[in-house]
Amino acid sequence: MASGAAGFRVLALVLFMSAFATAAPSLNVGHYLFTCPFAEAIIRKTVFDAVSRNPGMAAGLVRMHFHDCFVRGCDASVLLKSTPGNPAERDHPANNPSLRGFEIIDQAKAQLEALCPRTVSCADILAFAARDSALKAGGIFYNVPAGRRDGRVSRLPEVTQNLPSPTFNAQQLIANFARKGLTADEMVTLSGAHSIGISHCSSFSSRLYSFNATLAQDPSLDPAYAAFLKAKCPPRSKAAQADPTVPLDSITASTLDNKYYLQLPKLRGLLTSDETLYTSPSTSRIVASNAMNGFAWSVKFAKAMVKMGSIDVLTGERGEIRKLCSVVN
Ligand code: HEM
Ligand SMILES: *[C@@H]1O[C@H](CO)[C@@H](O)[C@H](O)[C@H]1NC(C)=O
Repeated sequence: MASGAAGFRVLALVLFMSAFATAAPSLNVGHYLFTCPFAEAIIRKTVFDAVSRNPGMAAGLVRMHFHDCFVRGCDASVLLKSTPGNPAERDHPANNPSLRGFEIIDQAKAQLEALCPRTVSCADILAFAARDSALKAGGIFYNVPAGRRDGRVSRLPEVTQNLPSPTFNAQQLIANFARKGLTADEMVTLSGAHSIGISHCSSFSSRLYSFNATLAQDPSLDPAYAAFLKAKCPPRSKAAQADPTVPLDSITASTLDNKYYLQLPKLRGLLTSDETLYTSPSTSRIVASNAMNGFAWSVKFAKAMVKMGSIDVLTGERGEIRKLCSVVN
């Protein structure tokens, strides 16, 4: 009995001390409850209005959060503009010209600066905006732990080193997400974001015209779908540098749902990185289960978004709260 009580006291002391040992502050839900109580409501209204005007903005904002988090952590480095001598992430070909929604973040930030100056970070605004986009486009709701601070560094070459390429196979995608602490299941589940939004032809045209030395067309692409894509994406001539776009999910293009996974067995995944999730034995079962159960997928998606949103965040005294999201203070 006595030793049990002593054991409890030791345990209590260890727990008490570890509360201080792990002093690095973490993210928490309701972070702005006392410092800027209407922050989340203002961001939500700004995002909902923007998505009502242009449904594609939901896709843009979800993708922007992903591109932020995978390069230098979720620190809003993706929002910084290039400066003389420092090309920023934002100007990498993976982001420029396709990344969209910058002006929505700027609009929310301007309102928040008027109401509670230097309080709400751009990195948090982006995390909330991605969440509100998932709510508006897919009815998926989750709480976003906040308290991220904004970074002061953005370097273009780091995008190549950290973001997955659309030509990656499943093994490469699993390895890329693993470096960010995300599992194969989370990688496949987050790829469900490709049930909304668009892709430029340049991101997949090698599948249509230059697959490998013997085949022009990717055999893991449904021939009828390939014909549709070729009509939308003619071979690029030097004269016409236009780069048209097509929906990533041609069935429910502006609804964030699990229909994306039903396209993959039909060989109608648009990017190599989509189709490989079905053709690779290491991920095909995850595709099948996400295809079968939309609710289970949406729960996993929300959890994975929260986890992605915590990659290498700056908290406490690190980083800063930017005044304008596109420039450091
Ligand atoms: C698994 C690895 C991934 C690869 C290789 C990849 C690649 C791409 C590419 C190439 C595009 C089209 C860009 C263009 O040509 O315009 C795209 C679009 C998009 N991606 Fe991903 N992506 C991946 C994962 C993710 C994740 C994890 C998310 C978010 C959770 C995401 C969200 C989106 C969205 C919403 C779009 C549409 C954007 C728009 O319409 O503006 N992607 N992705
Ligand atoms: C081209 O791809 C096909 C289908 O994946 C494959 O069977 C063939 O060996 C490849 N050819 C070359 C030269 O890599």
